[in-house]
Amino acid sequence: MKTTIAEVNQYVGQEVTIGAWLANKRSSGKIAFLQLRDGTGFIQGVVEKANVSEEVFQRAKTLTQETSLYVTGTVRVDERSPFGYELSVTNIQVINEAVDYPITPKEHGVEFLMDHRHLWLRSRRQHAIMKIRNELIRATYEFFNERGFVKVDAPILTGSAPEGTTELFHTKYFDEDAYLSQSGQLYMEAAAMALGKVFSFGPTFRAEKSKTRRHLIEFWMIEPEMAFYEFEDNLRLQEEYVSYLVQSVLSRCQLELGRLGRDVTKLELVKPPFPRLTYDEAIKLLHDKGFTDIEWGDDFGAPHETAIAESFDKPVFITHYPTSLKPFYMQPDPNRPDVVLCADLIAPEGYGEIIGGSERIHDYELLKQRLEEHHLPLEAYEWYLDLRKYGSVPHSGFGLGLERTVAWICGVEHVRETIPFPRLLNRLYP
Ligand code: 4AD
Repeated sequence: MKTTIAEVNQYVGQEVTIGAWLANKRSSGKIAFLQLRDGTGFIQGVVEKANVSEEVFQRAKTLTQETSLYVTGTVRVDERSPFGYELSVTNIQVINEAVDYPITPKEHGVEFLMDHRHLWLRSRRQHAIMKIRNELIRATYEFFNERGFVKVDAPILTGSAPEGTTELFHTKYFDEDAYLSQSGQLYMEAAAMALGKVFSFGPTFRAEKSKTRRHLIEFWMIEPEMAFYEFEDNLRLQEEYVSYLVQSVLSRCQLELGRLGRDVTKLELVKPPFPRLTYDEAIKLLHDKGFTDIEWGDDFGAPHETAIAESFDKPVFITHYPTSLKPFYMQPDPNRPDVVLCADLIAPEGYGEIIGGSERIHDYELLKQRLEEHHLPLEAYEWYLDLRKYGSVPHSGFGLGLERTVAWICGVEHVRETIPFPRLLNRLYP
């Protein structure tokens, strides 16, 4: 019976064959322990001299790391392993012998590992991170589909830029200028007017010259946009969504969280409601904590976000930022036009901002005025202004950065490990 490691629990006491790679090996005298992986999981194969032919035993002892194999054996319950099963091997067939696999079980430097990202992905740690990333994507579709949202795909090649013009990747579109998308938001606003509640999930690009542990040049964003949602409705959806993501990972990825050594007690606290601070209160909190380098009107840097997050054990919203700090499309607070109806969601434990969102301006004249103040070309935004001309309604939305969310939930320091092939300031390979 050919099966996978993830499914061996269905075959306890039976003989199965698994296509696998040799992750690691230990052998002594009459026994060899093979650490096998097949992408679905990891299992130990035990080869006992007494149970196999001499030829198979010698083969087992000389196998090299990352050699691909068909391994046949009997599935046994193994209470000592975190996985719970092991394979009592009866036969081994080599498919392709791997010679001098570069990533050995010893420690390697980050640059070396990044140069070998195509192979590094096979490690247990990277496997766990990719599985959790996948769970976040799965849970995202489930969450929004269950709530009547429609998935809409935004274009990647665009002629207009939602988040400002300095971080755009420029390209040619035949004879015209074009940009790689920084955000699908403007298109989601159009889609929300057609379909009510929508979300997009796709790659976005920022030519940011930032070399920090939170910045990627290419990252994936989930962007919901909802007609008739006002500021408060938007925040409630966000805390429900983020809690859903965390609880889904907690219930479906225990093995992976364990492998990463994640302290799950911190994640278990992530349930609505989330604490909220206005920007003004956040500035005061920072002053109280002794930060003298920031005043009203300044944007928060990573140390500020970390200091704010330290005061809470759940993600915290910072709301009502100064208008001057935020993009042109955000709705001003009717009681106080110098701030906008926006919120950033800051993850706990120093993982930084994971969501940016706001209520959008729905008044035609105000939006036009804001575009002009930002020196944006009106022709490029004519279609976007149309949305305010024909049946405009209050609406809101947000963008969740997938990689920062993966970093937080996995407890991984740097976003470079949260995406299969990271694009960083100095890295376009592999
Ligand atoms: O706050 P941002 O720039 O918001 C937008 O793009 C809005 N148009 C979204 C919307 O309302 N539909 O980015 C949203 C999130 C951030 O909170 C962060 O998680 C992530 O995207 N992000 C990055 N992640 C990795 N590397 C970068 N360079 C990122 N820039 C933003």
